[in-house]
Amino acid sequence: MNYYFAPMEGVTLYPLRNVHREVFGKGVDKYYTPFLTAAHTHHFKNREKKDVLPECNRAFDDYPRQIVPQIMAGCSEDFIWAAKEISKLGYEEVNLNLGCPAPTVVNRRKGAGLLQDPEYLDKMLSEIFAAGPFPAISLKTRLGFSDEAEADRLMEIYAKYPISELTIHARVREDFYAGAPRIEAFRRSVSIYRESGGKAPVCYNGNVDSVPALQKLMQEISPDEPSRGQERSEGGVSSIMIGRGLLANPALVRQLKGGEQLKPSELKEYLGKLYEGYATYIPEDRNVIFKMLEHWAYLHVHFKNCDRNLKNIRKSRSKDEYLAAVNRIFAECNFS
Ligand SMILES: Cc1cc2nc3c(=O)[nH]c(=O)nc-3n(C[C@H](O)[C@H](O)[C@H](O)COP(=O)(O)O)c2cc1C
Repeated sequence: MNYYFAPMEGVTLYPLRNVHREVFGKGVDKYYTPFLTAAHTHHFKNREKKDVLPECNRAFDDYPRQIVPQIMAGCSEDFIWAAKEISKLGYEEVNLNLGCPAPTVVNRRKGAGLLQDPEYLDKMLSEIFAAGPFPAISLKTRLGFSDEAEADRLMEIYAKYPISELTIHARVREDFYAGAPRIEAFRRSVSIYRESGGKAPVCYNGNVDSVPALQKLMQEISPDEPSRGQERSEGGVSSIMIGRGLLANPALVRQLKGGEQLKPSELKEYLGKLYEGYATYIPEDRNVIFKMLEHWAYLHVHFKNCDRNLKNIRKSRSKDEYLAAVNRIFAECNFS
């Protein structure tokens, strides 16, 4: 099984990717960047471009294969331009975002907005694949816009194209990120994709945040024992993409592979390096602290009875105050 760090806007940027790689090693097979917008003007924003520059991804010894830039585009022309720009940097794969649920994105017929019009999406993909040669193109989709039955048509469309991987976030757009993933609809979608001739590896995404969660998922997507002589197929899934689970437990992939639990010393090292990473491009302490609070929103689960300590972290105004509050939470609260 391969494990991927999911793209997360504003979060899985190069400081996080580098620090995660440095502290937790090579367990994660691929890191997806947050989406880069392929604007009609055919210019990336500077901060988006910076995120994929080789020199910003210094912790990776083979960044073109270990990092996958994701593109948000509403038409084939913009996607083709963006994919070509990114391939000039050496990347071997680019990923098309077919899942972002934000109204501002959807209303421009991008992200999950493309799922509302399967015939348009089909045309867009046919134009993209007619335009090669390219880096490999993978897709990250949801099961539909408002109804999981929409997945049937979407899978038939995806099966027509030589995509390099199909990641399915097991929700529809209207679920946003809430509620239990739709495992049965996911299973059905993988079957339809295969029956329609789809050959790409399939990656599952949604709520994998612990070893028991992964075990339960595996039971649900491949409940039958393999018949004699057949390999267990793991429900036709060869990869798992994880977002929030890795933010809450950066050692999660190690654990899923049978390794050690997160240790407080490595979490402290991770947090320290992350602060320094953000501070290289965010000028004010307070703004660096805001960035760190996005991580604390997930990480506090490791500390027992930590409300007061967490409040002190949130209230800190300077680097010294922040570091003192972080030292206190490690010293005063039980870690698990
Ligand atoms: C804050 C946030 C930002 C996200 N940004 C992106 C993004 O840029 N591109 C994308 O395809 N998905 C994005 N997602 C969705 C995640 O990649 C993932 O599909 C979702 O969180 C479900 O996986 P999880 O349960 O493992 O977190 C984002 C999710 C969150 C919570």
